[in-house]
Amino acid sequence: MASVRIFDTPAVLARALAGHIGRALAAQPALVLGLATGRTPIPLYRELVRRHADGRADFSRATTFNLDEFLGVSADDPRSYRAFMKKHFFDHVNLTPRRIHFLNGAVRPGRDVQRECDRYERAIERAGGIDVQILGLGMNGHIGFNEPARALVARTHATRLKPATRRANAPLFGNRVGAVPREALSMGMATILHAKRIVLLATGSTKARCVERMLAGPVTPRLPASFLQLHRHVEIWLDRAAESNLEV
Ligand code: GLP
Repeated sequence: MASVRIFDTPAVLARALAGHIGRALAAQPALVLGLATGRTPIPLYRELVRRHADGRADFSRATTFNLDEFLGVSADDPRSYRAFMKKHFFDHVNLTPRRIHFLNGAVRPGRDVQRECDRYERAIERAGGIDVQILGLGMNGHIGFNEPARALVARTHATRLKPATRRANAPLFGNRVGAVPREALSMGMATILHAKRIVLLATGSTKARCVERMLAGPVTPRLPASFLQLHRHVEIWLDRAAESNLEV
């Protein structure tokens, strides 16, 4: 059973989680963090940056792995998830560059894609696995870019994005849905479920229905986030708006 924590506002949630991560880092400086993009974790990154500036979060020995990246978008492209992370987090903390890991969206189509996915899996393994994986929740129940489907892919892979997901990501591409790549690279469901701890964040009323299905519905590839029910140490951190459909 996932443990659910509810906070009054996204800001209060972000502060609490940043405190949590700060303390985890103090206890284990070489922490391996799995990171997510999207609007939801932005307040968390802001709080982590603030804690770092206050001398309360030292990332110098930490390692990070981001969940996903668009295919056909290079790391220095301002629309990449890598650029998003630089802007909101990497540029403002003392992470060691070689311990920041990202999928390379600029990989050539074909066999190199599989090679890149395998490289990522090996890098996670070499780092000793992910200690704390932060997740957002797609409006359609995706995590990372594991989209609703008849079947899920276990490991890091290339995937086709659903129209709804491309619409949700349009703001990164000048609000032009047509400019959002059709494909992306993503950690797979097993990659995510192998993290020692998972913290999924969901805020806002638009996520309420999805949160309810994720926690109370069947485990189904039609709602990839429902697979989190299978993990021993998963925490769901919500604001009041996102928990409004739950009976708690
Ligand atoms: C994107 C990302 C996900 C993220 C989701 C939710 O598609 N690939 O990792 O969790 O969107 O985004 P938001 O937090 O903006 O709702």
